[in-house]
Amino acid sequence: MTGLQILGSGHGLPKRCVTNEDMAQIVDTNNEWITTRTGIEQRYFCSEEETCGQLAAQAAQQALQQANLSADQIGLIVAATFTSDYLTPSLACQVHQALGCTKPIPCMDVNAACTGFLYGLETARSLLMSGSANSEYALVIGAEGLSRVLDFTDRTSCVLFGDAAAAMVVRLADTPYSCILNASGDTTSLFANSLLPNQARFLQMDGKAIFRFAVDIIPKCLEQLLQKSGLTLEQIDHVVCHQANSRIIDHVVKKLGAPPTMFYKNMQRFGNTSAASIPLALDELLQNGTIRPGQKVVCIGFGAGLTWGACLLSF
Ligand code: UT7
Repeated sequence: MTGLQILGSGHGLPKRCVTNEDMAQIVDTNNEWITTRTGIEQRYFCSEEETCGQLAAQAAQQALQQANLSADQIGLIVAATFTSDYLTPSLACQVHQALGCTKPIPCMDVNAACTGFLYGLETARSLLMSGSANSEYALVIGAEGLSRVLDFTDRTSCVLFGDAAAAMVVRLADTPYSCILNASGDTTSLFANSLLPNQARFLQMDGKAIFRFAVDIIPKCLEQLLQKSGLTLEQIDHVVCHQANSRIIDHVVKKLGAPPTMFYKNMQRFGNTSAASIPLALDELLQNGTIRPGQKVVCIGFGAGLTWGACLLSF
């Protein structure tokens, strides 16, 4: 078995929803600019009391419940993040503890910025295949506490991002699956550091350069994945791109001549949640019944590094 089956999914969001109007009270911006340039209408920010670990644990709990599994049936936890509460212990270890797992299992974080969840899925699949997991079930999480590294004096970046977590319970399956992961060093990266408060650096990025990179790489990456899978775009039911900017997805749809409804968008409600963005979208599509059994979904990520990747999942 070389494919992956998703048995359950879930998400965790902070309580506080911050609208574009709220952002305009903090920094020199306005609702019109943010919606027309990005498609984002609101995002969620953690309060002082809320943590990335809590969001991740909530998402994991929901995913376990849906998969009808107890915490101790999980044999591996992989968490994708670059803005967890601590550099160490890992977010995966935090979730292991928060879930009340009583058995030791492999737990680790991966950091590939906004492509992180796809790296996490592939890492989990490889560990399941190698026999390194302690059971057939893995928990894969994408979670970010991005508001902790936002510079609220920089209107070019702080309006774009939001905090969130989403999780999937997966196991190996005999279903079509393909994955492409890539990275190449580039100075347009997002830089962030949430290591220690007194060493904190804020997230910085060259938004225009990342925009150009994204509209170029997404169609190429999709084509490469389809070729690897022996499929055509017509055989794919849904495409879930990293939710950075609505206009990035519009450009890609136009370039490919694809039906816009095939490309899911939810950045209007959550902003760019980096490693949480793809699983958050998948979770929504699964919970509302848009993704149905027998369908094929392609996920495409891109972000700091620069990193990029794509993954074919079958349901
Ligand atoms: O998750 C992966 C990493 N990040 C991304 O994928 C981000 C990709 N890039 C983008 O989404 C877009 O490039 C941005 C949303 C970041 C910027 O959009 P843009 O259309 O490329 O705008 P721009 O940077 O060219 O700025 C246009 C104008 C500038 O004013 P001037 O110089 O023309 O007078 C900016 O100062 O818009 C101004 N501006 C703003 N105005 C109001 C920039 N940010 C804001 C803001 N509110 N928040």
